[in-house]
Amino acid sequence: ACGYEGAGRLADPGIIVAEVERALGAGDLAGEKVLVTAGPNREPIDPVRFISNRSTGRMGYALAAAAWRRGAEVVLVSGPVALPVPHGVRCERVTTAAEMRDAVRREIDATSMLFMAAAVADYRPAKVAAKKLKKTDGPMRLELERTVDILAELRATPGERLTVGFAAETDDVLRNAERKLAAKGLDLIVANDVSRADAGFEVDTNAVTLIDAGGRTEVPLASKDDVADRILDRALALKRGRRQGRRSARKA
Ligand code: CTP
Repeated sequence: ACGYEGAGRLADPGIIVAEVERALGAGDLAGEKVLVTAGPNREPIDPVRFISNRSTGRMGYALAAAAWRRGAEVVLVSGPVALPVPHGVRCERVTTAAEMRDAVRREIDATSMLFMAAAVADYRPAKVAAKKLKKTDGPMRLELERTVDILAELRATPGERLTVGFAAETDDVLRNAERKLAAKGLDLIVANDVSRADAGFEVDTNAVTLIDAGGRTEVPLASKDDVADRILDRALALKRGRRQGRRSARKA
């Protein structure tokens, strides 16, 4: 082995660091099957155009990497983004909201913790033109129809899984997030004020509020990697609390 190619080639330093972190880390997510969705969707208008949103996938990818470092088995369902798949994580690539829904439904039965970090498209063009649309002098009207709400739909099959949603808001951030927590039957919601320049879309930092039945937890401005660990801490605490609750109910 020369150390540069073939079986004896030195692994990429990033992989070595990730493996060491998993081997020496808390391991507190060992045994968990984590499903993370990340990034935007693209909804085609014609063969060359689509509608989409500003999500870069960074928060979801940071969550997937952190969950793997902490011992989980991780599946990432990712919309089109320009990020490398974190080491150890199995990634399924999708484009549209309908494809994302199919991928989530395929994986959900084996999932113990779901993090819906993707900015799922709420609408798609009602008709996709088979050929490139040609411009005219007048305005253009595009009719949009609703996509299926993946989280709301999963509500019908609750099971043992812990479900975490994300709310990217520009106003009334906490109230809107609390409404979504209840409406979508979530265990936890990550409220993100995306009107701030240093949090949310297209930056490496984030500041969020975690909201669950027990109240609110502020996560002040930090790297998305650190914010990912705080989200996982809270999700794990909720899961342990739930297990404890069941044990005490059995004893009573
Ligand atoms: N979500 C989903 N399926 C959709 C839309 C959103 O599962 N079709 C998930 C997102 O991944 C996120 C949460 O729901 O975890 C966000 O909720 P929602 O408020 O519906 O997203 P917005 O598109 O921001 O909604 P609104 O326009 O109502 O603010």
